[in-house]
Amino acid sequence: MKIIIVNDYEEMSKKAANIISSQIILNSSSVLGFATGDTPLGTYKKLVNTYNEGDIDFAEIKTFNLDEYYHLPKDNTQSYNFYMTENLFKQVNVKPQNIHIPNGMCESIEEECLNYENAIEQADGINLQLLGIGTNGHIGFNEPDVKFEATTHLVHLDEETIHANSRFFDSIEEVPTKAISMGIKTIMQAKKIVLLASGIEKSEAIYNTVRGHITPEVPASVLQLHPDVTIIVDNNAASRL
Ligand code: GLP
Repeated sequence: MKIIIVNDYEEMSKKAANIISSQIILNSSSVLGFATGDTPLGTYKKLVNTYNEGDIDFAEIKTFNLDEYYHLPKDNTQSYNFYMTENLFKQVNVKPQNIHIPNGMCESIEEECLNYENAIEQADGINLQLLGIGTNGHIGFNEPDVKFEATTHLVHLDEETIHANSRFFDSIEEVPTKAISMGIKTIMQAKKIVLLASGIEKSEAIYNTVRGHITPEVPASVLQLHPDVTIIVDNNAASRL
């Protein structure tokens, strides 16, 4: 694992956007894995700026998102589909047919998960996967007690995650309790992984990810086994390292 400690959120976002931009410059038909949440927002903003300056082109880029809430319509402002459209996709020239996000409104979970895995395989795998991390160490929506061998599947969200994500909804009752998420196996198959974390509330999860035992109790700890992981953390998130 390569750990980069930076001063603040701004610097973290700049470094992450630079790494993703380099990936796009080096391989204009890269397959990028994207994450949602507050953490990558600054990164997406900087990517849009770099695109507007003419330095990167998304015309041949394919994207796969980590996860989506189950049974939340795409046009719901809290869906990850809506988030990605607003914060990145509608601001760059990525082709709609190259965008992949699990369909939370699907009729058959089994079929949706299988199709998602097949689409990643047909794209020849993910070149660079961006990750955030939950306060409980989750990545994507792979909650503690995760099965490391899982591929894309339906997950039941932890109370801690529902509580953390309720800040985006009007009330906690509105937070979906299930989601479709790439599994740990799917994430681990990405050729390169970049995990971002900022803020003191992520410091324990970062400590357990980097210095703790590899255990399903801390899903992100499995990243210790991946050959190409870069963790970019601000001083606060790194404070226990
Ligand atoms: C969500 C997402 C994760 C994200 C995490 C942290 O539950 N499924 O992909 O990394 O929460 O979110 P935030 O960046 O807002 O702290």
